[in-house]
Parts: sequence; C-alpha cells; structure tokens
Amino acid sequence: MVTASRPGGTGSAEPVVSTDVDLAARTLAQGGLVAFATETVYGLGADARRPDAVRRIFAVKGRPTDHPLIVHLADPAWMARWATEVPDTAWRLAEACWPGPLTLVVPRGGDVPDAVTGGRSTVGLRVPAHPVALALLAAFGDGVAAPSANRFGRVSPTSAAHVAADLGGDVDLILDGGPCAVGVESTIVDCTGPRPEVLRSGGVSVDRVAEVLGAAPARWDGTGPARAPGMLAAHYAPRARVVVATEADLVPVLEDVRARRQPEAAPVALLAPASVVAAHAAGWPDVIVLDPPADAAAYARVLYARLRAVDLAGADVVVAVPPPADGGLGDAVGDRLRRAAASEA
Ligand code: TXA
Ligand code: MG
Repeated sequence: MVTASRPGGTGSAEPVVSTDVDLAARTLAQGGLVAFATETVYGLGADARRPDAVRRIFAVKGRPTDHPLIVHLADPAWMARWATEVPDTAWRLAEACWPGPLTLVVPRGGDVPDAVTGGRSTVGLRVPAHPVALALLAAFGDGVAAPSANRFGRVSPTSAAHVAADLGGDVDLILDGGPCAVGVESTIVDCTGPRPEVLRSGGVSVDRVAEVLGAAPARWDGTGPARAPGMLAAHYAPRARVVVATEADLVPVLEDVRARRQPEAAPVALLAPASVVAAHAAGWPDVIVLDPPADAAAYARVLYARLRAVDLAGADVVVAVPPPADGGLGDAVGDRLRRAAASEA
C-alpha cells in the first residue's frame, strides 16, 4: 500500500508508476501526493482540503508558498463548493469550455485553505479534459490542488517518464495517462473584475473567450504587480540558455550565438519548424536541429519534450523560433519561450 508518510527524499528513489485510478484516489485520500495526466501537462496533486498535504506539494517542488495552486474538479457544478458568488462570466466560460484547458479565477469559498490560494481572496479552478484525470477526480470526490509536476522553475512534464525523471520517489504515485495532447499549461482567465482578464495564454484562445462572453476580455501584459504569482520570468526554462528569434533575424542570431558559445565546440540547438530551417539554417555545422511541426497546436504538443531533448543533447544554448502569434497556442508557445529566455538574461 502507498502511504502518506513517506518522507520527502531527493528524487533519486524509483517512483511508483501506475494506471490504477482507485489506488491513486486512495493515495490522495490518505494525504499522499499523486502526479496525474491532464490534457495540458502532468499535475502534482494533493487533497485541496488538507493543508498538510498541500504543503508537501510546495516542499517537493521547491515552490514559494505564496504562489497559488489550481484546484482541479470533476464537474463544473463543484465550482459552488470552492467559490462564493461565482460570477456569471465564470459560469458561461465553464459551460462552454469545460472540460478543457481553461482555469477560472473566482472569489474563493470561506473554507478553502490558505495553503492553496497563497492567502489570496480568489481561487483558480479547472475541469481538465483528460479521461484519466476526470476518473481520478470523480473517484476522489472533491477538489485536487495541483501545479505542474516539475521542480520549481523547470520545464513542465508532458509524460509520466518526464515526471519520474524530475521528481523520482518524492511523489507517492504517478498516474500514467500517456502523453499530454495540448502540451502547454491552461489559459487562465480572472473573472473577479467587471471585465474578465486573460492572465496566461493557452489552449483556449482569446477569440474563443471573446465569443463566449460576447465581448473581448482584457489581457494582462505581464507588468505591474503579479496578477498570477508564479508566472515568473524564471519559469519554463531548460538548463540550456534560451534565445528567441524570428524567422527574419534567425541567421544573425544564430551567427552571434555560435560565435559566443563556451566552449567553442559546444553544440548549439535550433528549435524551428523544418520549413524555417530549410530556408535559413540548413547544413550549419555544430547545430542540432530539433524541428517541431509548424502548426501552433502541434508545436505546443512537443515543445517541452524538445526543450528536454536540448538538455539531453548537451547543448548549452538553444535558439527558438516560435509560431506566429494567434491569441491561442501560438501565443502560449511564444510566451513560454520568452519567459524561459528572460530567466537567463
Ligand atoms: O494546465 C495547467 O494549468 C496545469 C495543469 C496541471 O492543470 N497546471 C499549472 O499549474 O500550470 P501551475 O501551478 O504551474 O500554474 C498555475 C498558475 C500560476 O501562475 C498561478 O499564479 C495561477 O495559476 N493561479 C492559481 N490560482 C490563482 C489565483 N487565485 N489568482 C491568480 N492566479 C492564480
Ligand atoms: Mg508550472
């Protein structure tokens, strides 16, 4: 039996990887940590009603305790258990987009632990569109608090193997649901103000939010006080330095990076669609090409696995050309790559 009392270790122990949903639900009920598949990225889950279990998430991740966690639900109707006065905009978005890659920030219910919200007056809620996640949440019967199942500031996991490599035996169980179909974290919409505001881009596009609401949402530009604490520049970074380029400036950027690399022979990685590589960067010596598909959704699906591959290849710098901005996954890929790049500046 998996118990909740396993002490936090170094991540070196072998993790338990399973597809047993009932075992995973029992592990949560005992206060354990379960990493589980969602359609976006794997989450590191704990019983959201138990501050002791939630605090273990922060300890294992090495995450600052004032960064709020998303509470995952099996059913949109559960929103009323976690929020007071759910705004009409939140109900409408939930009805249209859940299950799906959308997190709604709403006024928190009175009995939501401070450990989950970082002491804020709001809570982030999401019904994930993944059969394994939904089965787990239904079997558990209440909200599961879960950030992405990676160490703080590192690339999010999109497979059970990524979680195992990053967290090892520090997690009580990894519930394997295969590779994640979306590949980047959910869109976050803050519904607490008079005008809903998109705080993070993801699989639900700004256009879709506007269509559901009948009016364009505001978009947080990343400046001023942190609207979604935890969206730091230092997030989403591989070990290699990230440099973001456009197709137009790819050649000078690559030349500059190759000229300044240390040591001189260290490989440079290039993350750009095959058509971009063929047009501008084919046949360069010492450049490891990891070409994602050009389509934004397909690019997003492989983004984090490619960033892991950059590190495994021993490159100390990766030049990345994101897909064009599109208000959806193109924005999400560009956003994550720019954050990763900013962390090294
Ligand atoms: O797709 C996802 O959202 C994944 C999967 C596991 O669901 N989760 C995820 O969690 O990306 P995490 O912790 O890595 O990112 C959650 C983001 C943070 O930036 C946090 O600040 C924001 O959600 N957030 C959570 N609750 C919030 C709140 N009450 N107000 C503002 N932002 C909040
Ligand atoms: Mg994260």
